Amino acid sequence: MPTDRYGVFGNPVSHSRSPRIHALFAAQTGQDMSYEAVLAPLDGFADAVANFREETGGPARGANVTVPFKEEAFRLSNRRTARAEAAGAVNTLSFDDDDILGDNTDGAGLVHDLKNNLGCDPAGRRILLLGAGGAARGVILPLLLEHPAELLIANRTEERAVRLALEFSRLPDCAVGVKLESIGYDELSGHAFDLIINATSAGLSDAVLPAPTSIFAPGSLAYEMFYGRETSFMKQARTGNNVRVADGLGMLVEQAAEAFFVWRGIRPRTAPVLAALRSPG
Ligand code: ATR
Repeated sequence: MPTDRYGVFGNPVSHSRSPRIHALFAAQTGQDMSYEAVLAPLDGFADAVANFREETGGPARGANVTVPFKEEAFRLSNRRTARAEAAGAVNTLSFDDDDILGDNTDGAGLVHDLKNNLGCDPAGRRILLLGAGGAARGVILPLLLEHPAELLIANRTEERAVRLALEFSRLPDCAVGVKLESIGYDELSGHAFDLIINATSAGLSDAVLPAPTSIFAPGSLAYEMFYGRETSFMKQARTGNNVRVADGLGMLVEQAAEAFFVWRGIRPRTAPVLAALRSPG
């Protein structure tokens, strides 16, 4: 039997940890598959996917998609899951003849990381989501489906947060019983949350978010979606009272596990893979 082929498309992509993660999942579950990083030209994502599908050596079964192609992958998909529709972006493609199914496993990855690795069940919690761009949008539906007490969205450009909150509160059933609202950074003092998620790209530039440290309730979890270094958000959270701090490496591994499940129907164990990624060398 020829080996099933998968890949991750991005630009840049050489830094991607996905090939290693999927190689570890495949070895752990005994799946015969290959997984490579594919650098797609900025103006040539669709062609790169088409070329990948035509290559010989085994059937192309699927792909992950990373920055900056997630919206293009959404448009390339002729069918999409509900969570991809809600996210407006696709990070997981499944190929079958002419059919391209687009999915988004980022939000599920966050929820699995919170519940399984960090012991933080979002149910009944007060959640503050910082940011209203693509990364924030991608996690709102999966968070709402966990029935938090409230999900407040704060963004530098306030109207983006207002629009996001409105859009998701109009989705049938998903925000029932959840206080889903936007809040200005300047209104945050006096509010404290159990779970504070940084979905802004401020970590890239080490910019400091204009949020007061009082947002971190004692015993809360501060979750940074970035990984690889300590951001100013993480530093600020550590100055709070008994605040736990997590980076986004767990989310990365969990979104990969969810994609692996979509493709192979098997859920790999993530803890050993996360431990391998965190171990030096
Ligand atoms: P992504 O796909 O990573 O979410 P994006 O759609 O460009 O990227 O969104 C980036 C998010 O980070 C936005 O919410 C942005 O706020 P604005 O909507 O006001 O631009 C937020 N962001 C980036 N840098 C920031 C900073 N220095 N302070 C506060 N918010 C910042």
